Amino acid sequence: MTSSCLPPPRKAPCAPNAGDPPEGRHPATVASLLIVFAALLALVACGETSTSYDSAPQAIAGSADLSETARQGKTIFDANCAQCHGPQATGTNQGPTFIDRIYHPGHHGDAAFHLAVLRGVRQHHWNFGNMLPVPGISETEVSKVICYVRHLQRTNNVFKPTEYQPTC
Ligand code: HEC
Repeated sequence: MTSSCLPPPRKAPCAPNAGDPPEGRHPATVASLLIVFAALLALVACGETSTSYDSAPQAIAGSADLSETARQGKTIFDANCAQCHGPQATGTNQGPTFIDRIYHPGHHGDAAFHLAVLRGVRQHHWNFGNMLPVPGISETEVSKVICYVRHLQRTNNVFKPTEYQPTC
């Protein structure tokens, strides 16, 4: 006897998903827009700090409202640093301006200034050559110079008052 025991033809359990519902794409689009936006922000932020110059960058400093300590710092700066870092730290063809995000207190804190004076600086941010140590300046005097530089930076919007406040 030929009994046909073939199983009943089975249909595929279900048709493959025919594409995502259109609203499924919406969040992805928003997310990728956010990513593009974040990337743009990062570009803008990095552009500020990774600039390297072949020639002397020279800033134009607005006149700062100086405290007494900053005023003393200016005298020391003018006598020992300005020949390279320029009047009001605006830079010369021998040294960089400090009116630049690179010298933001968050990037070059006070220690960087003390070290620079004490040990000199090997050329690394610019093409001015090395900075030699500057002898004959006490730590207190360097602190006053830093105070002056921070005042100049504040006046020239290197940092926002919410980011940093010179305490001198
Ligand atoms: C003979 C020139 C010259 C004199 C004088 C000089 N500097 Fe410099 N200074 C330089 C140069 C050039 C650089 C940049 C080196 C680099 O980053 O490529 C520099 C860099 C610096 C830096 C950045 C250090 C770092 O970590 O990147 C500080 C801070 C600084 N100088 C402070 C001073 C102070 C304060 C004085 C005065 C007491 C002074 N300099 C006098 C030439 C000079």
